[in-house]
Amino acid sequence: MNISIIGTGYVGLVSGVGLAQKGHDVICIDKDRGKVDSINSAVPPIFERGLEPILGRLVDDDKLTATTDTVEAVKKTDITFICVGTPSSSDGSIDTSFLESATKDLSQGLIGKKSYHVVCVKSTVVPGTTENIVLPILEDAGLELGKDFGLGMNPEFLREGVALDDFMMPDRIVIGGGDQKTKEILAKVYEGFDSPIMLTAIKSAEMIKYASNSLLATKISYANEISRMCEKVGIDVYEVMDGVGMDHRINRDFLDAGVGFGGSCFPKDLKALVNFSRSIGINPRILESVIKVNERQPIHAVNLLEDMVGRLSGKKIAILGLAFKGETDDVRESRAIPMARELLRRGAKIVGYDPKASDNFLKEVENMEFADSVEDALTGSEGCIIQTDWDEFKSLTEPDFLVMRTPNVLDGRRVLDSDDFSQVRYRTIGR
Ligand code: UDX
Repeated sequence: MNISIIGTGYVGLVSGVGLAQKGHDVICIDKDRGKVDSINSAVPPIFERGLEPILGRLVDDDKLTATTDTVEAVKKTDITFICVGTPSSSDGSIDTSFLESATKDLSQGLIGKKSYHVVCVKSTVVPGTTENIVLPILEDAGLELGKDFGLGMNPEFLREGVALDDFMMPDRIVIGGGDQKTKEILAKVYEGFDSPIMLTAIKSAEMIKYASNSLLATKISYANEISRMCEKVGIDVYEVMDGVGMDHRINRDFLDAGVGFGGSCFPKDLKALVNFSRSIGINPRILESVIKVNERQPIHAVNLLEDMVGRLSGKKIAILGLAFKGETDDVRESRAIPMARELLRRGAKIVGYDPKASDNFLKEVENMEFADSVEDALTGSEGCIIQTDWDEFKSLTEPDFLVMRTPNVLDGRRVLDSDDFSQVRYRTIGR
């Protein structure tokens, strides 16, 4: 099938590459000429392991091209996926301005186009957005639903770092469609996938995305709340969650206690769902608590470190890991941000190290230093917090920490094993 995709961020580019790999002809659209040129020369504008060689093959074979010209790309294709960002506004609601301008551009490509076209929203949007915002823009352009175009919503559940695998082998493919024809066309896009397809209403598809992410975030905050109790009474929360997770109704995933969740999705999606819930007169008590617990965890980590180090004022403290999780350079909502701010507030001198994310972190927190290696960060410091579960940190051993002035290590992601330390004071969250 001929498919165009508006937006070449994580979701857009990975979807484009995934669909082209499945044999479709894909045109990626972005306003940013730099990103378009980069894709056409087979260099992904995002860091995602394994993406570059596959993109290279697809570009060579002409299965995937990129352009800044939305109208042309829409005219040449039968389906357009909208994958633009829906960032948080100051009140937590989603900002739909990119969605609106993408739809306007798209509608210009549909005017005068003879064949039926499916417009499918993949961006994360609160229930009602596709029908209340996207549809009227298309209709205002003189296009008729059901005759000129069909409307769909197909949320994406991919995780950064394993995005392509998640796209190619999802647990499920959720397709919301306004009518049967649209659902069938969208289901055909995924014909070659070995995953169950769920066909549903547009609003339900929109809600499934939020309900899924919020439940995963809830599992993490739940584990973190239990972990606080475990710390007080000498229980290891990881062992507890191993036992809890053996119940197949619960499972062990997303029950790792630590410094909390960050990233481009969970914090933003929770805020948006809270805002949506309030907007329809429902007080979202669970979701609000999930956010509160998550905000507390990085501060709690600083408290635990202070217990070990003593007053933090004037002391050099290293933060190992600035990305929101391992294997990515993404620092959006990274727990390192509130952690660093709290350390600075208490007068610590901080030095951060990350294998990939330091450049992105530069604009997040002022008045901190950056090191080029773990050794540089640790040398002379009086405490360190491991904030990201990078593989590089998993292989650290006792001698690596002995360059510290006082080797106090707070492991915020349970990457190390306390049994391996005799001279280092090691502490971890939830034990
Ligand atoms: C998430 C969802 O998993 C994905 O389905 C959705 O499409 C986008 O949001 P991502 O943000 O890439 O994906 O990261 P994920 O691997 O889910 O981790 C999110 C955050 O939770 C990270 O900060 C991670 O460190 C933290 N986390 C995860 C925990 O603190 N404990 C856990 O048990 C699992």
